Amino acid sequence: MAYPQSFIEELKMRSSLETVIGKYVELRRAGSNLVGCCPFHSERTPSFTVFPEKNFYCFGCGAGGDVITFIMRMENLDYPHAVQYLADAAGIDVPREEGFIPQKKKEILSRERNFEMNKIAARHFHSNLMSPEGAEGLQYLLDRGLSPAIIRRFGLGFAKNSFDDLYKKLTQCGFSVEEMKEAFLCGISSRGTPFDMFRNRVMFPIIDTAGNVIAFGGRVMDDSKPKYLNSSDTPVFKKRSNLFALNLAKNSCLGAEGATGDRAKSGEMILCEGYMDVIALHQAGFSGAVATLGTAVTPDQARVISRYAKTLYVSYDSDEAGRRADEKAIKYMNEVGVEVKILKVTGAKDPDEFIKKYGAESFRKLMTGASGQIDYRLSEIKAKYNMEIPEEKLSMVNEACALIAGIYSEMTREVYIMRLSDMTGISRDTIASDIKRRTRKNTYVQKQQVAKSGEETLRHYGDRINPDAIKSVRGAETEEHILGLLLLYPEYMDSLNGALYEDDFITDFNRMVFSCMKKLHSEGGFDISSLNEHFTPEQMGRIHSMYRRRRALTVNDIGILSQLCKTLKQEKEKLSAPRGEDMTLEELAAYIASKSKGKQ
Ligand code: CTP
Ligand code: MN
Repeated sequence: MAYPQSFIEELKMRSSLETVIGKYVELRRAGSNLVGCCPFHSERTPSFTVFPEKNFYCFGCGAGGDVITFIMRMENLDYPHAVQYLADAAGIDVPREEGFIPQKKKEILSRERNFEMNKIAARHFHSNLMSPEGAEGLQYLLDRGLSPAIIRRFGLGFAKNSFDDLYKKLTQCGFSVEEMKEAFLCGISSRGTPFDMFRNRVMFPIIDTAGNVIAFGGRVMDDSKPKYLNSSDTPVFKKRSNLFALNLAKNSCLGAEGATGDRAKSGEMILCEGYMDVIALHQAGFSGAVATLGTAVTPDQARVISRYAKTLYVSYDSDEAGRRADEKAIKYMNEVGVEVKILKVTGAKDPDEFIKKYGAESFRKLMTGASGQIDYRLSEIKAKYNMEIPEEKLSMVNEACALIAGIYSEMTREVYIMRLSDMTGISRDTIASDIKRRTRKNTYVQKQQVAKSGEETLRHYGDRINPDAIKSVRGAETEEHILGLLLLYPEYMDSLNGALYEDDFITDFNRMVFSCMKKLHSEGGFDISSLNEHFTPEQMGRIHSMYRRRRALTVNDIGILSQLCKTLKQEKEKLSAPRGEDMTLEELAAYIASKSKGKQ
């Protein structure tokens, strides 16, 4: 699907990036750019930059793109809906001729109608719960220890054991079956009869931070399966980026100054798995609790959390799946700069059960004593080895030393050296000198990194967008210049015949960008905005920076392009030729440093 380029251009022209972003971020001028605190990750010093050429980039988290990317990420919309959103705001029509719009001719259920319908459904379920017909549901919730007040606060409800109770209600309110189906409230049987999706279940509405009901979960009241039924993704609900109870938790997390100034959060958030865990926690006074709803945290959810929380207490179920989910949480929360503490609910299978058994005070104690990620990792490492066997013990110490050597602060390292010494009976001095040996190596690399801040560093060392770049720094650079040129002058695609193929690319990410451009080009052309649909905002950030870097140069002719293609082929050959010793980290860092010096 593609919109005509002229339309996208007009849309972008009429949607001033500055104004659009200014609604969410306090921007101030810095030279020819505007800067502010990034709305996509937690930070205190502004690294979010809006450039005069109408794109943005965050030097902290790497998010970037144009006004469409911004709205996609901020409003959690897919490409067509972000386009629609901006068009509505600018008062222009989205072209709807054949082929330009994703869903064929079917009217897209507007977000407003979807919200309205979900709100009616939630109210209906709630009033069912309070009516005689909902007695069984209400009793179930009360039996599980919920107070009437908390039932109201969460807007819990009841779906009757009926095939058309909600269907009738929504029909009365003027909604069509298609709309109900799109919102996952009704299905349509093979005989064409509409039926309610949720039947004979207690209902948990999922509400976004603006207060819109966007989805539901429904639980059976016995042991039948499936225990929970959840809305699948709809135009207003994406499971991977929403969190249950965030609407309530965000208020407990935002500092007194609210959402002004440094948007993010004084706060502490608690992350758990299930609906009932969250509700039990709120009832016990922990109103920063949210749930990922049965899955490990995703990078999208991590970003959302980082907008409100400084510290995240992870309180997943005490089973193997929960442990694996802890690991993911550590990884993704680290990436967005939120401190993680891992809670272990021992003696209970989940926080809900824990609070019932031991009380709120015990949970508070768990939080106070929660291990930070280093402690957590140390005990994980220890658990892997049999400390009675000398070889295994040695491996354990080795692994632990590597972990500690990676800690930035010397004082913190000191604390963990003592901890490790206590754990193993090996003297502090021995451990300390081993760690010193390791940090000497690390420090050199770190110095190189710290000395050069910003885009250059992010680009190649520990590059999350394009992890392959490390295979060939020069190759990846060359690829980026080629892509930047092609983004600047899409018409160069025509003159590439034979000069550049997907196979010539060394890194997967850049190859993906190229093949996407190639495909769009063959389908009638592209500009940088058309890529929005195929890449995440972080990836778009990278793509925009390729474009920007090339745009800043004066010579961007075809000759340069063919020269770059040749260089890329040479780099690729070098890789397949047998190499001598692998570069050490020091050499690599020096190499990267020398590369970036030449560029700035
Ligand atoms: N879940 C789900 N579908 C299932 C089972 C679980 O969507 N069939 C999700 C729900 O969001 C649930 C969460 O995973 O809240 C955690 O699952 P589980 O630990 O099995 O349930 P509990 O939260 O303990 O639910 P309850 O206490 O009501 O039994
Ligand atoms: Mn439970």
